[in-house]
Amino acid sequence: MSAVVVVGAQWGDEGKGKVVDLYAPFAELVVRYAGGANAGHTLVVKGEKLILHLIPSGILHQKTNCVVGQGTVIDPAVFLKEIEALTERGVATEGRLLVSQRAHVVLPHHKLIDGLRETKSNEAIGTTKRGIGPCYEDKVARRGVRMGDLLDAARLRSKLEANLECWRPVAEDLGGTLPSADEVTAQYVDLGKALRSYIGDAAAVVRASIQRDQRVLLEGAQGTMLDIDNGTYPFVTSSNAVAGGACAGAGIGPTHIRLAVGIAKAYTTRVGGGPFPTELEDETGQRLRDAGAEYGSTTGRPRRCGWLDLVALRHAVAVNGLSEIAVTKLDVLTAVDEIKICVAYDLDGERLDYPPYDRLEAVQPIYETLEGWDEDLSDCRSRGDLPAAAQEYLTRIEQEVGCRVGVVSVGPDREDTADLRDPFER
Ligand code: IMP
Repeated sequence: MSAVVVVGAQWGDEGKGKVVDLYAPFAELVVRYAGGANAGHTLVVKGEKLILHLIPSGILHQKTNCVVGQGTVIDPAVFLKEIEALTERGVATEGRLLVSQRAHVVLPHHKLIDGLRETKSNEAIGTTKRGIGPCYEDKVARRGVRMGDLLDAARLRSKLEANLECWRPVAEDLGGTLPSADEVTAQYVDLGKALRSYIGDAAAVVRASIQRDQRVLLEGAQGTMLDIDNGTYPFVTSSNAVAGGACAGAGIGPTHIRLAVGIAKAYTTRVGGGPFPTELEDETGQRLRDAGAEYGSTTGRPRRCGWLDLVALRHAVAVNGLSEIAVTKLDVLTAVDEIKICVAYDLDGERLDYPPYDRLEAVQPIYETLEGWDEDLSDCRSRGDLPAAAQEYLTRIEQEVGCRVGVVSVGPDREDTADLRDPFER
């Protein structure tokens, strides 16, 4: 059992990128298993900012290979651009990066429809407009185009023709015009040629790696509360972001996973629409947004901010079978006098310990107030170095959700981390 899953335990943007970056040097292989270019991870390479949406950040560690699994949806132009940006910065990808031939392709009309729905229909949920929903719709409807299809022009053309026909009435209804099959075929055949050496049997590579007893890090995207089955439906993304999604998305069995680490911010954020019980639409919310630089790395949208929701986190512990939680951005709470944590919800007078399947917008958070701290946390390297109030904050999290806290991030840099351990050595 050599695989470890890293999964978002809230509504995405929990700081998975930083934790994956910290764990990647311990791994031989990093595998992205769900989502697409809706995710965004900001990296600094040789002093220059680089945002990766599809390629795992493990690519920066020369000894780590990267796989983008069959559970993802790929915008090939974005993928190619990321390869080029890495090459420009001296990071070699050839022979170290593979995308699954089974991963579905995000097509131009997926992005068009996603955007039109957001602006012109009453179906808007605040998506990233990256074509994620329509692409997964095609996958489930069994009419999608897969990465392997980009390598066969005739096959691609016939699939595209059929696919475009299905979307034509939808696009027309929304006032949009679809590109022709010829145009898309020409563009995507070229992308296929450019990416040929990167497309292959990714799942076989992951399994072979596991068989050789290599350490495999499975990297989730988005978060538990955005998961299509376990999240705040319909305000969710269209894939299984949870740890369980790692098996289907990477092509391995559950018996290979030894540990699931959930990443949770010390407070809560959400981008896009949908219920958010602990949201703070006041000065404190703005303070968290400013201190935590809470603006989307894919869309630049300001993130909605609020207190830590332990009901949502308890749910994440349960549905992911979390072995431990990594708490990020604890430093952002420094100098907040009194910190609130939501320990339960009140729904029409009934106390709930877990989110209801529906009517989340109607719950009232039940808060407990904890003492804050003023000390700078950036030099803390273990839990014992933290001020007593910050230690108490972590202890209350553990008590409420029934899962231990491992890594604690106390600042944006790699070094600003307490209790980092090799996740494969437990
Ligand atoms: P989609 O994934 O673009 O279809 O968007 C569906 C919902 O998921 C919207 O509320 C988005 O804001 C949210 N979402 C998608 N990807 C991310 C992410 O990486 N971080 C945070 N929210 C996301």
